[in-house]
Amino acid sequence: MNKSMKILVTGKDGQLAQELQKRIPAGIELIALDRNDLDITSAGQVMQTMTHYKPDAIINAAAYTAVDKAESEKEQAYAVNATGPENLAKACREMGIRLIHISTDFVFDGQSSTPYQPQDAVRPLGVYGESKAAGEAAVQSILPQAVILRTAWVYSAHGANFTNTMLRLMSERDELSIVADQIGSPTSTQTLAETIYTIISKTETSGIYHCTDAGTASWYDFAVAIYEEAKALGLLEEEKNIKIRPISTADYPTPAARPAYSVLDKSRLIVDLNLESQHWRRVLRRVLQEKTGS
Ligand SMILES: NC(=O)c1ccc[n+]([C@@H]2O[C@H](COP(=O)([O-])OP(=O)(O)OC[C@H]3O[C@@H](n4cnc5c(N)ncnc54)[C@H](OP(=O)(O)O)[C@@H]3O)[C@@H](O)[C@H]2O)c1
Repeated sequence: MNKSMKILVTGKDGQLAQELQKRIPAGIELIALDRNDLDITSAGQVMQTMTHYKPDAIINAAAYTAVDKAESEKEQAYAVNATGPENLAKACREMGIRLIHISTDFVFDGQSSTPYQPQDAVRPLGVYGESKAAGEAAVQSILPQAVILRTAWVYSAHGANFTNTMLRLMSERDELSIVADQIGSPTSTQTLAETIYTIISKTETSGIYHCTDAGTASWYDFAVAIYEEAKALGLLEEEKNIKIRPISTADYPTPAARPAYSVLDKSRLIVDLNLESQHWRRVLRRVLQEKTGS
């Protein structure tokens, strides 16, 4: 990168936006805005903010991510996940700004038995997935040169996510029952942030990309790995033994249906951007190490 780039990220306090703020590469000025600074559901505010900052690119890390709550809050989910990206895409088109929009494996129904390709037809199972699919469609039709980066099973050292929930429950309980018939790829925000900054540096990149850590797991596998790695790192007491039982989705009903198979094909990222992903378990160890402060 020769000259400094001004990048604006939405959803400042979210897991991904926080990681982006921690890993700013040389040559990038990052402006992170929370919902009070920039509510992406307001077309007027979006346009005003873009006119004020005139960024080279926007990373849309803001989203309505409460998958179950979305079933009863359809309007709010669509406002943030569909109207929000539409507003950003329109402002980007008008002002010649690049847009990197983050999306999800939940746009698929999980009926496949092989990894989903970026061009596969979307068929969401619930309101969250539908609203994210609507956001993707709006971005693609308004700004075809935008990048849509789909990811899955996101976690980080901080924030509300499966890893931190497991660590809390493991310190409180002796037994846990975890769903073993949903398969996906746990993905660290570290991986996502590095990928996004690579995309920023390659200004010709456009279209849909899939980005997750390598390998697959069930939530049960993921929980067992969190337990083993946390014990090895001293994040859980040595003498505490927890029984982790595999259960089926039917044993753990939730308001929103989840895709049974959420694995995303990452070939396009590897071919176009030369980005090889690391196995999720190795990345998990690194993220948990971060929690130990070492
Ligand atoms: N988490 C996952 O497992 C997962 C999986 C696949 C894809 N993704 C995608 O990855 C992206 C980042 O997810 P994340 O886990 O970092 O999400 P997150 O932690 O839930 O953060 C989302 C952020 O967006 C903000 N936000 C909500 N409505 C807004 C609005 N109207 N204007 C501006 N900001 C608003 C939220 O603020 P408030 O706290 O004030 O609401 C929050 O800080 C999202 O596009 C998500 O769909 C996530």
